[in-house]
Amino acid sequence: MEINRVKESGIFVIFGVTGDLAKRKLIPALYRLKSKRLLPENYFVVGVGRRVLTESGFDRMLEESRNSFIGRVNRRAWSEFKKQVSYYSINFKSVKSFRKLANYMERTGRESKCGGNRVFYLAMPPDVFGPVARNMKKAGLLKGKGWKRVVFEKPFGFDLESARGVNRQVSSVFSERQVYRIDHYLAKEFVQNILFFRFANPMFEQIWNNNFIDNVQITIAEQDGIGSRGRYYEKAGAVRDMVQNHALQILSFVAMEAPKSAKSADTCPEKVRVLKSIRKVLPSEVVTGQYGSGKVNGKNVVAYRKESGVAPGSLTETYAAIRFYVDNPRWEGVPFYVRTGKRLAKSYAEVNIMIKDVVCTVFCDERMEHPNIITVRIQPDEGISIKFNVKSHESVYPINPVIMDFRHKAVFGMNAPEAYETLIAGVMQGDKALFTDWEETEQSWKVIEPVLKSMDKMRKKFPNYRAGSFGPEEADKLLEGKKWVMPQGVGE
Ligand code: BG6
Repeated sequence: MEINRVKESGIFVIFGVTGDLAKRKLIPALYRLKSKRLLPENYFVVGVGRRVLTESGFDRMLEESRNSFIGRVNRRAWSEFKKQVSYYSINFKSVKSFRKLANYMERTGRESKCGGNRVFYLAMPPDVFGPVARNMKKAGLLKGKGWKRVVFEKPFGFDLESARGVNRQVSSVFSERQVYRIDHYLAKEFVQNILFFRFANPMFEQIWNNNFIDNVQITIAEQDGIGSRGRYYEKAGAVRDMVQNHALQILSFVAMEAPKSAKSADTCPEKVRVLKSIRKVLPSEVVTGQYGSGKVNGKNVVAYRKESGVAPGSLTETYAAIRFYVDNPRWEGVPFYVRTGKRLAKSYAEVNIMIKDVVCTVFCDERMEHPNIITVRIQPDEGISIKFNVKSHESVYPINPVIMDFRHKAVFGMNAPEAYETLIAGVMQGDKALFTDWEETEQSWKVIEPVLKSMDKMRKKFPNYRAGSFGPEEADKLLEGKKWVMPQGVGE
């Protein structure tokens, strides 16, 4: 997706700037937008945090972000970028402190000629969304010339009830038009591409149903552990952190009926229809896990329970595998298997569409071994491949699976912009195309409710997978005799 140049100047405020998300994603994305000249001259970033930081302390934080997450930068562009970033420390519980911030912003807006447009990015846990929103209002941060928009990082709530509570609090301060709920997977080129692949190619859409598809497998695997996010992750766990949002977004794109257009106004209702059709998940359809120590990428890593900010006897899941069914005529009887986890053998996200075997005709035994598979690689090496069988010249019989591969980089050059660049530019331009609305958020919590309630049974066995493996063995049983597709180059 090409990003259009942002035209209106303003101030981008990050609440929770000293956290992991700002360092890993937001600062790098803002820098890249700036260095690609996609931001106007007068665009200022104000990082807000609880910690009292000196100028050099904040500079160290920016450098850390640069070294770990941006890599090589153009020195001039980086120092230009840093000139337009500042830090302000506040007490998030005090209206008085927010008032001081409002004055600071007013001054910064005037001095840096950024005007009154504001994006407030709440890179914070959902239980403070409501109180922070209220304090912003009371302190007058939302008054004055220019538009004010607010971005809420996921998860939006911790379960259905709390999500509804957060939404009530947030909507008493902001109108839905001002609210941007983030799910950055929505802005990933190859999540969007599922829609294009399906609906721009009649030959695939024809087979996109239970007559031809045996099962769908969605994997989001990460080698990383939880880094410095122990405190957040302890409360979240893999289901809230990855399944309720990212994995269900992908599932909805795979399963939805044709929308009127690719715009979110048309795709959101279709995704909601899919979520509404998901059958209540049974306890036997959920497998969870927590990593023990092990080796990832040749390095020894500690068990989850030894990570900083994690309780020594923690029962938080760092892995989840779930079987979903979408009860509608298109998908009746087709399982959608979703799995995600931290500290796994490989970092990759992909969707595998497993095609049914044809009624046995000529190559009965061999065919069963090698089903046709359509794979959408969301990351890395974004692309789409199709696995099918051919005869090899060496022998008449054995069936040889081969792969026809479209690699985005090979065809279109550079990889697509990072999701957060696209999303931040979207908010700055008032474009909600890649954000989720409340109905979708609420529905996804409804789908996850029974999963959250049925997770206890496995916890007694935690830790139950080795870091550097592909997760707990129980996840294989979920597939009832079928196999998880391994990423290219692994296994087989
Ligand atoms: C975030 C989760 O939403 O997504 C993280 O909170 C996870 O735990 C991240 O690491 C993965 O995003 P990406 O873009 O690196 O696949």
